[in-house]
Amino acid sequence: MAINFNNRWVVITGASSGIGKALAECFAREGAHLILGALPEEKHILENIKCEFQKHYHIEVATVYQDFAKTDGAVKFYRQCKKLQKSVYCLVNNAGIIAYGYFHELSHKTQHRLITINLMAYFSLMRLFIEDMIQQKEGVIINISSVSAFQPTPHHAVYGAVKAFVQSLSEAVNQECRGTGVSVHTINPSYTDTPLLKTNNFPDKIWWYRISGLAKPQDIARKAIKAVKKGKRVYVPGVMNTCIHLFLPRILPRKLSNLIANYVLGAET
Ligand SMILES: NC(=O)c1ccc[n+]([C@@H]2O[C@H](COP(=O)([O-])OP(=O)(O)OC[C@H]3O[C@@H](n4cnc5c(N)ncnc54)[C@H](OP(=O)(O)O)[C@@H]3O)[C@@H](O)[C@H]2O)c1
Repeated sequence: MAINFNNRWVVITGASSGIGKALAECFAREGAHLILGALPEEKHILENIKCEFQKHYHIEVATVYQDFAKTDGAVKFYRQCKKLQKSVYCLVNNAGIIAYGYFHELSHKTQHRLITINLMAYFSLMRLFIEDMIQQKEGVIINISSVSAFQPTPHHAVYGAVKAFVQSLSEAVNQECRGTGVSVHTINPSYTDTPLLKTNNFPDKIWWYRISGLAKPQDIARKAIKAVKKGKRVYVPGVMNTCIHLFLPRILPRKLSNLIANYVLGAET
């Protein structure tokens, strides 16, 4: 079934900045109506985005505020979306955080929070929305994953492990959904210039930037939507990233691949 976002409702979490905000604008350009999610404290930012998009793109925009660090945040978010009584065609699971540092040094609380936001909220929203999509016999789930999903990521071990979970879940569920009209896609960017990389403890430079540089969120968003419309289920933006992250870990001995990851993901001094 052809994927077309025009005049369809798209839910995007973490739409107040970075890749989420860029995706929201690309969907608006496609003529989609938007349900945008953000933290309650970002209300002023998201309301501005809402006004701007309504004015420029002549689409409908609704906003929903929830904190996914709370265990019931994702379920409450879904219920708020349902109250809007829109038929949701596409869910973009995007809200996320990162925690950089050694597993044994980063606090239990910090890493547990990351798992709640980046894993549990993705899982819950995907599970809740997919049932509606199966019933309506059409739907698109886009999980913003990462190249970190494809091999262990020393220095942000839990972040990579969570992305690997999201990757495995997305690809498995996509197979289960064959013939239902519903598809599940992952977008797997490498490092992208967003506030995420300015989070506490994240180094100014890591060795990997020398190879990959920093992508622009607008480019990632534009390419991602194009790839999804073409039916791509796993999309790694950039030819070099595709070779390095999809193919190299498959042919290199695991020990060597992990050693290289430990080196290139370390801070550049
Ligand atoms: N940047 C990269 O290098 C990169 C690479 C690969 C994949 N990704 C993935 O891309 C996605 C978006 O990240 P980004 O780089 O665009 O980062 P970002 O600019 O920091 O955006 C993250 C979004 O998630 C929201 N968020 C954070 N904590 C939340 C919570 N507890 N409840 C609800 N919303 C919350 C943020 O809201 P606030 O603005 O209020 O904090 C923001 O809107 C993430 O899943 C990330 O893992 C990023």
